[in-house]
Amino acid sequence: MSLDYQFPKDFWWGSAASATQIEGSKNGGTGKTIWDHWFETSPNRFFDNVGPYQTSDFYHHYKEDIQSMQKMGHNTFRLSLSWARLIPGGEGKVNTEAVAFYNSVIDELIKRGITPFVNLFHFDMPMEMQEKGGWENKEVIDAFVNYAKTAFELFADRVKIWFTFNEPIVPVEGGYLYDFHYPNIVDAKQAIQVAYNTMIAHAKVTEAYHQYYKGKIGIILNLTPSYPRSNNPADLRASRICDLFFNRSFLDPAVKGEYPSELISLLKEYGQLPEKQNEDASLLKNNIVDLLGVNYYQPRRVKAKENIPNPYSPFMPEWFFDNYEMPGRKMNPYRGWEIYEKGMYDIMIDLKENYNNIESFISENGMGVQNEERFLSGKQRIEDDYRIDFIKEHLKWLHKAIEEGCNVKGYHLWTFMDNWSWTNAYKNRYGFFSVDLNTQKRTAKKSALWFAEVSKQNGFNV
Ligand code: BG6
Repeated sequence: MSLDYQFPKDFWWGSAASATQIEGSKNGGTGKTIWDHWFETSPNRFFDNVGPYQTSDFYHHYKEDIQSMQKMGHNTFRLSLSWARLIPGGEGKVNTEAVAFYNSVIDELIKRGITPFVNLFHFDMPMEMQEKGGWENKEVIDAFVNYAKTAFELFADRVKIWFTFNEPIVPVEGGYLYDFHYPNIVDAKQAIQVAYNTMIAHAKVTEAYHQYYKGKIGIILNLTPSYPRSNNPADLRASRICDLFFNRSFLDPAVKGEYPSELISLLKEYGQLPEKQNEDASLLKNNIVDLLGVNYYQPRRVKAKENIPNPYSPFMPEWFFDNYEMPGRKMNPYRGWEIYEKGMYDIMIDLKENYNNIESFISENGMGVQNEERFLSGKQRIEDDYRIDFIKEHLKWLHKAIEEGCNVKGYHLWTFMDNWSWTNAYKNRYGFFSVDLNTQKRTAKKSALWFAEVSKQNGFNV
């Protein structure tokens, strides 16, 4: 009997996590990242003063966690390697404890029938590399390429799906524009250089992979469709420029191998073009991705600017648009993000129509909720029906996209078990499993049981 929403055979059901958010950063001879440093120097910037040391300790619990993934019907799981763990300091000697740990995690996943998807960089710059200027410095790009090659040599015999970066725009926005990541710089010119150099690092790693290996390599982008307030040309322009800055700045070079000409003209007009090397254009052109991960949480709604920006204020993307609050919008009040399920479908249609229907999957989608203990049942389980509804409504739109021919291969929830959310620390919980931070006990939430059924049946009824 077929289900109301039946997904294609071999659809990827799973979840995603990142090294810094789950491993525990004092384990196993790891080096320091910008997160350790920032927490040591400014603990007040973190919710409840909780830093990256206190996590769900995947480092010691991975066997139990992977077993639970198997029970839940996961056929895929995305993790990231920590550069600072594998090569403390970012360059030089490989940490043998890290090699043993990641080998063991990868082997355990495979043993349990779960295909590992491995990402190389998830916001976690080694501190020594940041001290050299981070992505602004070409030596750091070279060190990153060496780290990637080391990872391929060590693990690519078993890992066949790789990603260079998770949401590369976020360290740009957080670290160089809006002050929510270290190094807390607010300078658009530097931000644009960092963004550009990140794409160069991405292309060099993609090139290195394709040279010797036969699996797939991609990038994971957080795409936020820009919806204009109206069809007024000024609103349309505002949304088009947002799309250029926040989506196409990474999507176009990753998938098409070149930057949108409108973005280049705009940056040129305002004197914001980054420094380039002659060989960059062909490097980008020859190293497009095999696979695209799409993280989707929220839409972006914009309108034309109400007031002309002060010409003496430093250049910012906000010179070209105002944010717009959609009347009647549905919100996740804890994270302050609008919930708009159709956005997922709109992204997929855009990829189909304008990006050669590149193979893609939803690499993150999820709902962080504060004080989830409120929803504990007599069985001591969190009854997160709101999360089930959230996933289901998104999956309906994803299903429609597939029916209309979009080349989307899977859905991963953020995240498997409650984890450390950067400056929000443990404020909002996203997991299928709750974690008691004192005992490290994991307990399946109601959504975990529901998702297990969905994965096993490859779909669901309404
Ligand atoms: C994505 C990131 O942006 O969203 C994750 O890839 C992050 O690292 C997730 O945790 C949820 O966002 P936040 O800020 O609430 O943790």
